[in-house]
Amino acid sequence: MANVSLRNLVKEYDGGVQAVKGINLDIQDHEFVVLVGPSGCGKTTTLRMIAGLEEITKGEIDIGGNVVNDVPPRDRDIAMVFQNYALYPHMSVYENMAFGLTLRKFARSEIDKRVKNAARILDIEPLLERKPKALSGGQRQRVAMGRAIVRDPKVFLFDEPLSNLDAKLRVQMRTEIKKVHQTVRTTTVYVTHDQVEAMTLADRVVVMNHGVIEQVGPPQELYHHPATRFVAGFIGSPAMNFLPARVADGAVHLFDGTFLPIPEARRDRYASAAGRDLLFGIRPEHLTDQRLGLQNRADIVITPEVIEPMGMETLVHFHFGEARDVCAKIDPTAYAAPGERLVLTADMNNMHLLDAATGRVL
Ligand SMILES: Nc1ncnc2c1ncn2[C@@H]1O[C@H](COP(=O)(O)OP(=O)(O)O)[C@@H](O)[C@H]1O
Ligand SMILES: [Mg+2]
Repeated sequence: MANVSLRNLVKEYDGGVQAVKGINLDIQDHEFVVLVGPSGCGKTTTLRMIAGLEEITKGEIDIGGNVVNDVPPRDRDIAMVFQNYALYPHMSVYENMAFGLTLRKFARSEIDKRVKNAARILDIEPLLERKPKALSGGQRQRVAMGRAIVRDPKVFLFDEPLSNLDAKLRVQMRTEIKKVHQTVRTTTVYVTHDQVEAMTLADRVVVMNHGVIEQVGPPQELYHHPATRFVAGFIGSPAMNFLPARVADGAVHLFDGTFLPIPEARRDRYASAAGRDLLFGIRPEHLTDQRLGLQNRADIVITPEVIEPMGMETLVHFHFGEARDVCAKIDPTAYAAPGERLVLTADMNNMHLLDAATGRVL
């Protein structure tokens, strides 16, 4: 096993497209790191450079203390699991998992030991003699992971391994992958566009946007302390609301004259923001029907446009001045109706203020 370091990593494709624009990242031994971001932000390119499948334009990749820029893929001691796991249809599950080791001339007894161990970890022991066509999607995905596990590589690389599975199976396999990692503890770099997958799996999440890293941190830190508007809006569902605002006299002032007192503990932090164009960031779960006892709360009066009961909570959608589709989460037993005035409470302990021009969180 090994740590992985990316230093000033750049990838420019023919035609001058810069897919990756000088990223730096240190991944620790045993760590599970997830690269997440919208389609086209450079996740796959980064992963393929680590694998050695894509030439590096500039910068360095270090695996386990060795710069591997010029090391061919098969000598990097990594195993990759793709979205298209492409099992060999004419081989049994056992043979599919054993194949890579056979090519590498491992002893038959060692191969047998490793395949059986991986089958046990993945809970597919009864399937070893089956052909891929007799497996469900989730079982095939397990076999693809088994192929990687038997290699016992320094690093696992996953590129959107769950995106071919239906929603329910995706959630199940997500848990499986986490369990497997807790067992084998192999350093893992996992790519997905799905922020929920990123949050649930990662020790640390790396949020990418347009070929750069916006922020790196443990899931809870990204959720509570996003550094930029992009991260604030990308992590969390439904997404954080952004309302145009100004700060004066220790309060956030919204366009309609509503003012929301800033908690004492944050006044100094926001003092220099007075007079600037700001965005007040508040997540739907922190914009709720009134709850007694919540400290540092402030009321906003709105008119719901659409009400969506979800069972455990109800989503209320409305617009608020320039801000379209603002969302609040209220208790399912609370009364709300489209077109009828509703008083919401902002939990100001969970407020964010952003510079409207730069998108930086203050
Ligand atoms: N082989 C290629 N040639 C030219 N441009 C490419 C190639 N592969 C990817 N790109 C471009 O590089 C950018 C990043 O792509 P990619 O790494 O696949 O993004 P992601 O995996 O985050 O969706 C995109 O703009 C994409 O169009
Ligand atoms: Mg991709």
